[in-house]
Amino acid sequence: MIEDIKFISKEAGSLIRNAFGTNFKIEFKTNESNLVTEVDKASEKLITGFVKKKFPSHGILAEEGGSFNKESEFLWVIDPIDGTTNFAHGLPIFSVSIGVQKNGKTIAGVVYDVMNDITYSAELGSGAFANSEKISVSKNDKLSRSVLVTGFPYNIAENPENALGKFVALTTVARGVRRLGSAAIDFCYLARGVFDGFWEVQLHPWDVCAGKLIAEEAGGLVTDFNGNQIDIYSEKFLATNGLIHNEIMEIMKKN
Ligand code: IPD
Ligand code: CA
Ligand code: CA
Repeated sequence: MIEDIKFISKEAGSLIRNAFGTNFKIEFKTNESNLVTEVDKASEKLITGFVKKKFPSHGILAEEGGSFNKESEFLWVIDPIDGTTNFAHGLPIFSVSIGVQKNGKTIAGVVYDVMNDITYSAELGSGAFANSEKISVSKNDKLSRSVLVTGFPYNIAENPENALGKFVALTTVARGVRRLGSAAIDFCYLARGVFDGFWEVQLHPWDVCAGKLIAEEAGGLVTDFNGNQIDIYSEKFLATNGLIHNEIMEIMKKN
């Protein structure tokens, strides 16, 4: 199945790359920050069409409305473009993210970094890969020497959860904090040891399903902000190399 997921992620990636920088239609979803382009929709249609044809008994949970048969044993969790704001503004950081669950457990995941042509992949129990190269999280055990990444929800203006407090607090103690704009890529950069930690307060299953498995298979630890286990429907995620997890949680508790 992993080869099928890789194949269709790359197909969708080609469609997105061909459209990058062209004049595509952009609509607002919940507010003027939350965009969907006709390319998001076309990518989702391509992926869901493939799943329906090749795996007709499987279900689909997809961001732009293409969900289908969600109660079935196998569920494809699809973000057709993760990083739509970047895509719409001409910033070449975005991905296709596809995770597959069996009876509620993620068994395979692929994040295709479109503009770098890198396929991140993992199958449960088999490690994580960037193309064919095995990847693993960093060995850094000091927050003061760590580079972290985060993101902010589209409803940040109304959201009572103070994502900015954590951002300020961690920015003052870490070596650096970045905001790339694709949660799926954030998980993969954690998985390959570029970032030592990643947190976000309001993610969705399609942002997380593939990336969480890739991070875990690379040796990372993914929990909520209190160290509890989570599933893809949780909103708050802290993903680290495992070594700086407690240090970050201590700071998060106070901010
Ligand atoms: C968004 C990106 C972003 C994150 C947001 C997500 P989208 O996904 O992953 O990095 O900060 O929380 O919603 O809307 O580009 O698919
Ligand atoms: Ca997303
Ligand atoms: Ca998306």
